[in-house]
Amino acid sequence: MTKPVLSNSIAARDVAFHIHSQTNPQLIERDGPLVVARGEGVRVFDAAGKGYLDAMAGLWCASLGFTNDRLAAAAAKQYAELGFYHTFFQRTQEGVATLAEKLVELTGMEGGKAYFATSGSEANETMVKLAWVYHTVRGKPTKRKVIARERAFHGSTIAAASMCGLEFMHREFGLPLPGFLHTLCPSPYRGMLEGEDEAAFVERLADELEKLILREGPDSIAAFIAEPINAGGGIIVPPARYFARIEAVLKKYDILFLDDEIVCGFGRTGNWFGKETVGAKPQMMALAKGLSSSYFPISAVVVAPEIYEALKEFNKAGGNFGHGFTNSGHPVGVAIALEAIRIYEEMNVVEHVRKLGARLKGHFDALAAASPIIGEVRGAGLMLGIEIVADKETRVPFDPHLQAGMQFDRIAYDNGLIARCMGDVLGFSPPVIVTEDDVDEIADKVARSLKSLEAYLGR
Ligand SMILES: Cc1ncc(COP(=O)(O)O)c(C=O)c1O
Repeated sequence: MTKPVLSNSIAARDVAFHIHSQTNPQLIERDGPLVVARGEGVRVFDAAGKGYLDAMAGLWCASLGFTNDRLAAAAAKQYAELGFYHTFFQRTQEGVATLAEKLVELTGMEGGKAYFATSGSEANETMVKLAWVYHTVRGKPTKRKVIARERAFHGSTIAAASMCGLEFMHREFGLPLPGFLHTLCPSPYRGMLEGEDEAAFVERLADELEKLILREGPDSIAAFIAEPINAGGGIIVPPARYFARIEAVLKKYDILFLDDEIVCGFGRTGNWFGKETVGAKPQMMALAKGLSSSYFPISAVVVAPEIYEALKEFNKAGGNFGHGFTNSGHPVGVAIALEAIRIYEEMNVVEHVRKLGARLKGHFDALAAASPIIGEVRGAGLMLGIEIVADKETRVPFDPHLQAGMQFDRIAYDNGLIARCMGDVLGFSPPVIVTEDDVDEIADKVARSLKSLEAYLGR
C-alpha cells in the first residue's frame, strides 16, 4: 500500500477529501489508498511503479483489460462526432439502434427490446419498475414484492441494495425496504444438509421458495431476481436443474424472473450469457460491466416482448414512460459497447474463456489436492472461486477474526496479484483476454500466496 507520506501527495489528498466505496474509513486513514497510476493490458501499476496482474478485472468488469486501443479509438471517434445526446422525447442515434438490435439478438430475447441505463444498480431497478408495470396492466397491481436470495449482490441504490442478501449492504441504512424478501441461497457446499443429494437440495430450495410465496400471498409477489452464478456472494454455482425447478414455481404463481447478468454476461462463464450456462429462461436481463468492458458507465435491460407490450398498453392514452436517466444511451458508451462486442466476437470469447477457464481451474484443482486449507474450487469459465477452510473434511471455516481471506488478498498484493476475497472465498475473474501465460502466472502467484497464508495460519 502507498502510505500518505507528503501532505500534498495523491494518497494524502485522497485521504483528506475522498470518500471511498466499500472501504473502512479508519483503515484508509491509517494505511492510505493503493494509488493506481496506469494500466497495461491485464496489468495495473501503482504510483511506485509496482505491477499487479489484476485477476479480478477491476470489479469483474474490465474484460478487455485496462488499455484497449480499439475501445479508446471508438470513444475518441464518437466524442468528435457527437459527445452527448439523450434518448428522451423520441430522440435516438444510430449507435443506440444498432446496439439495442445487437443485444436483443445476442441475448436471444426474441421479439424483445433493450433499454439503456448507466449502472448495474439502475438496470436492476429498471427491471423491478417494469415488473410493476407488467402486473398492473394485467390487472394485478398488488403484485409488488420482489424475492431475491441470501448472499446475493444486486447493487447499491436503495431497491438494488434491498435485493442484496448481504448484511453489510443493509446494516447502516435500515434496509431492506419493506417488500424485498429473501429466499435460500443455492450453495451446494454450504447449503446441503447431511445425507442430502443435489436433487433433494434443489427440491428443498424450490419448496422454501414456494412456502415464502404462499406465506406472503402470491398476489403480492411481482418478481424473483437472481444471478445465474452468484458472483459477489462467493462464486456460487447452483446445482443442475435449480433454475428449471425455481422457474416452475415462479410460473405457477405468475411471478417474473429477472436475470442479473451484470457479472455473468459477455462470455464470463463460458457462454455469451450466464443463463445459458445454468439453463435459465428469464423474462428480463440486466447487463453492464462487460458490456463496455467498463470503459464507460453503460448498462442495459433486455426485455421479452410481453414486458414492452405492457409498457405500451399502460401509456396508450398518451402518457410517457416515466423513467429515464440523462445518460441512457449515451453515444460514447454505446460506441464503446459496440466495439467491445465486435472484439468479443472476433476473439471468439466463448471458446477462449472455456479454454483459459479450464486451464486456470486445472491449476486450482491441482493446488486443492495438495493444500490443507482449500475446501472447494468452483465456478464456470473465467469466474472461479477457491473456498478456504480450517478443516477440509468437516468444512469448518476459519475463525472470522483471523480474516484469512483478507490476509490472502494482502499477501497476493505483495506478490503482484490482485484477487478479491469474499469472506474466505478467494475470487478470480480476470480480463477475458488473458493468455495461457497470464493464467499460469495467476496460478503460480496464487500457489505462492497460499503457501504464505498457510504459514501465517500456522498450517
Ligand atoms: C451481480 C451484480 N449486480 C449488480 C451490480 C451493481 O452494478 P453497479 O455497481 O454498476 O451499480 C453488481 C456490481 O458489482 C453486481 O456484481
